[in-house]
Amino acid sequence: ELFEDRNLRWQKMSIIRHDREKLNGHRGGVIWFTGLSGSGKSTLANALEKQLYAMGIRTYLMDGDNVRQGLNRDLGFRRIDRTENIRRIAEVAKLFVDAGIVVLTAFISPYDTDRCAARDIIGKSDFFEVFVDCALEECEKRDPKGLYAKARRGEILEFTGVSDPYEIPENPDLIVATDKEEVEAAIERILIKLKKREFY
Ligand code: PPS
Repeated sequence: ELFEDRNLRWQKMSIIRHDREKLNGHRGGVIWFTGLSGSGKSTLANALEKQLYAMGIRTYLMDGDNVRQGLNRDLGFRRIDRTENIRRIAEVAKLFVDAGIVVLTAFISPYDTDRCAARDIIGKSDFFEVFVDCALEECEKRDPKGLYAKARRGEILEFTGVSDPYEIPENPDLIVATDKEEVEAAIERILIKLKKREFY
């Protein structure tokens, strides 16, 4: 359905992204972490945000459990719900980017098509994908929330990695193997790449 057919028109704003970015002293963008539950998405995103904050960069971290308590409280873990989850997150992230903010997202985002859709919503040049790679066995060993154990007992259905798919990113901007690399070293690598992409 066309925008115009719904009697909608895009409103021109006096202050635009470029103005806000100038005020902030850096540009906006999205650093999208994807990986299994327990792979270390939140740990990495938090460590990176701390670093960016110390560098005077305005950031905002969106995290799975938190967003699912508010904005996406009506969504579960079926395929269509996960798709809608990621779509809304991408739309919100896009608004933050327009506000000149560097957004860090930490969602499993298991489906390739959903991640591609997120990239299309946000825009290729503002999207930096980090695949948080960690063997399922290691995630299961960590099991910080005891969810893998529950999934194995059949108390959680459609649990990613156990009874639901995780599609490995085909072309991420960066891969961090959290079962092989220290957080500090990974953050350093991410920062170098972000600099190259002129994220700051
Ligand atoms: S998704 O797939 O991107 O929509 O998932 P996300 O919004 O990141 O939410 C993942 C967190 O929800 C908890 N949880 C589950 N994960 C996967 N599958 C099932 N069925 C499920 N049920 C609950 C789990 O704590 C995930 O948190 P993380 O931080 O990834 O461990």
